[in-house]
Amino acid sequence: MSATVFRNIGELTTNGDLGVLHDAALVLDGQRVVWVGADVDAPAADSSFDVGGRAVLPGWVDSHTHLAFAGDRSTEFAARMAGETYTAGGIKVSVERTRAASGDELRSLMAERIRTANVNGTTWLETKTGYGLDVETEERSARLAAEFGQDVTFLGAHVVPDGWDADDYVALVTGPMLQAVRPYVAWMDVFCERGAFDEAQSRAVLQAGLDSGLGLRVHGNQLGPGPGVRLAVELGAASVDHCNFLDNEDIDRLAASSTVATLLPACDLSTRQPFPPARSLIDAGATVALASNCNPGTSYTTSMAFCVATAVLQMHLSVEEAVWSATMGGAVALRRHEGELPIGGLMPGFRADLQVLDAPSVTHLAYRPGMQLTQAVWQAGVRLA
Ligand code: NIG
Repeated sequence: MSATVFRNIGELTTNGDLGVLHDAALVLDGQRVVWVGADVDAPAADSSFDVGGRAVLPGWVDSHTHLAFAGDRSTEFAARMAGETYTAGGIKVSVERTRAASGDELRSLMAERIRTANVNGTTWLETKTGYGLDVETEERSARLAAEFGQDVTFLGAHVVPDGWDADDYVALVTGPMLQAVRPYVAWMDVFCERGAFDEAQSRAVLQAGLDSGLGLRVHGNQLGPGPGVRLAVELGAASVDHCNFLDNEDIDRLAASSTVATLLPACDLSTRQPFPPARSLIDAGATVALASNCNPGTSYTTSMAFCVATAVLQMHLSVEEAVWSATMGGAVALRRHEGELPIGGLMPGFRADLQVLDAPSVTHLAYRPGMQLTQAVWQAGVRLA
């Protein structure tokens, strides 16, 4: 192994017991962080990197994306900006385009989206199927997503495709489609919402996931109040995502559970939905993650910095809370915060996923929103950008 010491760190966000350190140093060896502390105490290493007083923080953990798609829906977006309401029906447009794309096209579209995410500081990313909605295209999306090696989620239950009875389609998703994607996925997801799947159908989808050994994630309470959060908590889902319409019981349920509330600020802007009650969730003790929700319909961005800035400027999180939610919060939502090679923090034993900002403090992420602040990125100890 070859150790590298990062010296002269103006502000180091560890997400651990050491909190935020100033005038700090960090050592990585191979793919792990092996030492963190005061710059004056930094041990010698094989090579040294002078950060020049800049801020260092964990790489973003983007725990909710839909990258396996072709085509765009900018016309639908423009109509929304002119006053149309978002409905789940637009998903079918992306399904048509995705089915029509070749495997090579889809692979290179995904690779480019991931490359862009990486250079902007994302070092771990979950992505979903859900624009195939037939056995062949869902299997292809899952297989291609797995080539990129991080968390892959099966979202066959995104909407009911044209020409299908909803219950027959649920039987397809929980039967042959699940069997086809199973080698490639770790998670089962369902869009539990008006215009998508009702409570009974969502329960059947999630139960099938559990029965085949998958972890659970839920799209819930995005377009109106509904059973998504309750179901997610009841079935022990790792995360329930969107959470725009929560009542006090939903907030209490989340606070008393290990289900993470994953909030998607870029999507809320693009759909003009009310922001979720982020402040109330955190104050009640719920674990909150922030994710990009990159998809062609409601959030065509992989920029986690944009999500952090929006969470601060519009959802009343402090910068520190937003950064935690976009790093460690995402790791908890994917159950990757502990174990053999945890992610989401910069502590000894954690995977060496880190970014250097061209700024002295993470405060600049919200103070200078939209600026390209990520200057350099290491993923598992390897420099990406
Ligand atoms: O997370 N809510 C469901 N799925 C996506 C939207 C997909 C689309 O409209 O294409 C989301 O926002």
